[in-house]
Amino acid sequence: MEQQVIAGGVVLVGGGPGDPGLMTVAGLAAIREADVIVHDRLGPLECLAEARADAEIINVGKIPRGEFTPQERINEVLVDRAKQGLRVVRLKGGDNFVFGRGGEECVACHDAGIPVRIIPGVTSAVSVPALAGIPVTHRGLTQGFVVVSGHVPPSDPRSEVNWAALAASNLTLVVLMGVQNLPDIAAELQANGLSGSTPAAVIADGTTAQQRTLRAPLERIAAVAADDGIRPPAIVVIGQVAELDFED
Ligand SMILES: C[S@@+](CC[C@H](N)C(=O)[O-])C[C@H]1O[C@@H](n2cnc3c(N)ncnc32)[C@H](O)[C@@H]1O
Repeated sequence: MEQQVIAGGVVLVGGGPGDPGLMTVAGLAAIREADVIVHDRLGPLECLAEARADAEIINVGKIPRGEFTPQERINEVLVDRAKQGLRVVRLKGGDNFVFGRGGEECVACHDAGIPVRIIPGVTSAVSVPALAGIPVTHRGLTQGFVVVSGHVPPSDPRSEVNWAALAASNLTLVVLMGVQNLPDIAAELQANGLSGSTPAAVIADGTTAQQRTLRAPLERIAAVAADDGIRPPAIVVIGQVAELDFED
């Protein structure tokens, strides 16, 4: 395999949903070559054991609603280390371009004249439902899926998501970062015509020993998740496929 990381460059590595077995071969090679690895809280942190003993490991992990490293500071770290001629890996959970701010990091590097390479990752949006036995598409049930952030409640002026269009889309809805706002999201979808009997599922802590899946109709999924004490990271799947369970 060709060299993954060049001196003075940054490689965005998508690490997959957490299980190191779901990291790509190219991503693992980049981890092994890197002089510097900048990583988050989510992702295949066990893979860091594969880093060189002298590699600098920088944790910029964000805790939901807690302490975090501002994105501007992360960009500065990437640019600073690359300008020193080091081989820099930016490791994220899932895929860097799916709610991973990979685009902003690319812009910061490009503006600083730093070459960037992308190693895509297995996004949790598809893999975590799959690990729970839920295919995001299934012939005869749905002809597509939408991945949407539930970080901002539908009623919030900052929300740019057209929940009414999603309610009418007949597509599987995969909601990331939606646990906190699940009551509002479920209510908004129903207010816009999506039946309360639509199957839904919440999958928490995908790929870990604590992984669990809750299934309930849309009208009850928020209460069921709250009763179970579901906390992030979790993925919500809404649509006919949420009733399927292909896991043995
Ligand atoms: C900031 S987004 C990053 C998504 C990531 N870039 C990806 O492609 O999977 C974080 C959200 O992804 C979802 N997520 C990521 N890993 C997960 C996992 N192992 N189990 C459940 N949800 C996960 C959760 O909704 C979490 O709040």
